[in-house]
Amino acid sequence: MKQLDLFSPLQIGDLTLPNRIIMAPLTRCRAGAGVAPTALNALYYQQRASAGLIISEATPIMPEGHGYPDTPGIYTDQQLAGWRLVTDAVHEAGGRIFAQLWHVGRISHPVFQPHQQLPVAPSAIAAPGNVMTPTGKEPLPVPRALETAEIPGIVEQYATATRNAQQAGFDGVEIHGAHGYLIDAFLRDSANQRTDRYGGSLENRLRFMSEVVEAVVGAWSAERVGIRFSPFVDQKGADSDPLALFTAATKRVASFGLAYLHLREAKTKPDPATAVLRSHFSGVLMVNDLYTKERGNEAILSGRADCVAYGVPFIANPDLPRRFQLDSPLNEADRATFYGGGAAGYTDYPALSPSTFMEQ
Ligand SMILES: Cc1cc2nc3c(=O)[nH]c(=O)nc-3n(C[C@H](O)[C@H](O)[C@H](O)COP(=O)(O)O)c2cc1C
Repeated sequence: MKQLDLFSPLQIGDLTLPNRIIMAPLTRCRAGAGVAPTALNALYYQQRASAGLIISEATPIMPEGHGYPDTPGIYTDQQLAGWRLVTDAVHEAGGRIFAQLWHVGRISHPVFQPHQQLPVAPSAIAAPGNVMTPTGKEPLPVPRALETAEIPGIVEQYATATRNAQQAGFDGVEIHGAHGYLIDAFLRDSANQRTDRYGGSLENRLRFMSEVVEAVVGAWSAERVGIRFSPFVDQKGADSDPLALFTAATKRVASFGLAYLHLREAKTKPDPATAVLRSHFSGVLMVNDLYTKERGNEAILSGRADCVAYGVPFIANPDLPRRFQLDSPLNEADRATFYGGGAAGYTDYPALSPSTFMEQ
């Protein structure tokens, strides 16, 4: 029997992926009017359709979910029409795409908020670090703590965004539970110091995430839902015991039968959480951060993971699977054009041949 590697097909829920090379979610700050996706965005994703699965850039589920300029939302008709351009383009090229559902929570600034209001969060505690505003870098602000009675409305927005994603032609959704944004902030004890049923004990800190997962699964089907965690990435808010926290969070999402768990691993390798969390999750495990072809194949062959998400390599190489297959050199990514701008550094990275993305 052929050993498993990046080029082996993979079943995620009821979808069959032709390979295990996943395009990681990548915010590129290039939405058009009404923060809706454009034809340029559709072309960018279409060029990358040979990925086993594309996970879209994080898409805010509501106006308060924004924390960066020109990030495409998933809550207006105009945005859904824009996403339809993207999903049609990806499907035409034979690909599959999930929407990454996002609420930034306290990683924002009044300039990105409706009526210049304060961003919302579990507690009125600023995240460490800065935010880039149109007028320059500023410390992340002290957010407004959500009232208990407001929380069900946000959970409901996740369900609405899920239905919107389905309507816009996505193949599924990934819940963004990583990187200090709203769900991650509810989980971590440095960010969540609430005294109601959403804070304090571990069980209470899991509640917001659990309600979101339940709502999203209810709006579609667990087979079409994944979640992303980043247990040891804590620049935007730490936890006193991340392994215990994310073990409990993983057991919880496993109980909903989610199709996959996506781990953004620690910079210091190997990540201490990956093997532990895998043992508590029977669905597909996706790993990410600084993988090469060799490390990706090794992760799959050894059984550490089922598939590997690539971020920066997909920015610079629209035909990454083909390049891996042929052991072709990779294009270098231009960091200056990661966030914002037009086609330069976005849709102009060359493929090996003009028709490469149509193959597979
Ligand atoms: C330009 C850029 C934008 C990103 N945007 C997102 C995002 O929207 N959602 C997310 O979960 N991670 C985001 N990330 C993190 C990537 O998904 C990925 O974890 C990171 O690039 C590490 O993988 P790599 O070493 O293969 O690039 C972003 C990273 C970069 C470089």
